[in-house]
Amino acid sequence: MNKFQWQDGLMEKIESLCAIFPPVIKNRWRDRLMYNSEKIAAYNGSSQVTEDIFWRSVYEVFPGGYEPLILRIKDPEKLKADMLQSRNQENLAPGTEPVQLTRWAGNSPAPAAIPQGKKILAVNSCLRTGGNTDVMIDELARACRDNGSAVEKFYLGDLTIKPCTGCRACRKADVKTICTVKDDMTEFMYGKLYEMDGLIFGFPIYTARENGIMANFMDRWDCLSNPYLTRTMPGLKKALVVCSWMWPNPVAYDNIVEQMIILLRLHSVETTDVLVVSGTRGKKHGRGVVKNHPEILSTVYQAGIDFLRAP
Ligand SMILES: Cc1cc2nc3c(=O)[nH]c(=O)nc-3n(C[C@H](O)[C@H](O)[C@H](O)COP(=O)(O)O)c2cc1C
Repeated sequence: MNKFQWQDGLMEKIESLCAIFPPVIKNRWRDRLMYNSEKIAAYNGSSQVTEDIFWRSVYEVFPGGYEPLILRIKDPEKLKADMLQSRNQENLAPGTEPVQLTRWAGNSPAPAAIPQGKKILAVNSCLRTGGNTDVMIDELARACRDNGSAVEKFYLGDLTIKPCTGCRACRKADVKTICTVKDDMTEFMYGKLYEMDGLIFGFPIYTARENGIMANFMDRWDCLSNPYLTRTMPGLKKALVVCSWMWPNPVAYDNIVEQMIILLRLHSVETTDVLVVSGTRGKKHGRGVVKNHPEILSTVYQAGIDFLRAP
């Protein structure tokens, strides 16, 4: 028997929220929403699931990128306003676009000396040169170079990186080669990963996840987990993750960014900072609206310096 009382109308809202899902997954989402709402109610010592508790639960259960689906039911007027605002961004004068930078780590606490001579590898999985991801990576690279480090940058789309074939030769105990696929990964990119001190790791959000080029690249890192590899990542390396998306919600795809951070960590690369640029509409005046915002670029530049200092 259900101990919790649900405020009138909330069950209908669950149905409307889940209406978009095919039957094969609909019940799972309905169960998750109900379970989580009652959990929050219990945590707050309440036997009633109120409207407030319910929406809190919805935002906890759905990934951030589902926000338009949520607003469709919760606040259609806000959804319309957000969509219009986003579309109108195309017409705003350069520098006035409401593009937003979110930096996950604060400034470096102590003005420690900046280590010199670091080898920084920068990878961009976005094909759009001069796009937001690219502008941010270039600003970070400039900060690193200005402060005594060497930066080598690659557009992953310019390299020949074939898909993992799933042969699992890299899992064998007598592994002789990291990977059997012959391409730019085996030719030189694995070597660059081993040799780098730090990684600037940039990707855009496409269809609510990392873009395909980045997913393909990360599949090819899987061989680095083989415990029998004679050559393994020497020590823990550092990464600064850069991500860009169009939706104006600055936390919309945090789950995807976190997933990439965890994946990097599984391969001995620890992320010390994240720079997210959201609300990137504004193509009318050229790509990479972030370049029109000096205050953002200066934060990015500082993050580049802090990255070199990060312990
Ligand atoms: C195929 C494709 C799918 C996209 N999907 C999303 C999406 O799901 N959510 C979103 O907010 N933006 C989405 N975008 C917009 C990009 O994330 C946004 O334009 C980003 O700033 C691109 O990075 P760039 O400026 O470095 O090229 C998509 C863009 C493309 C081309």
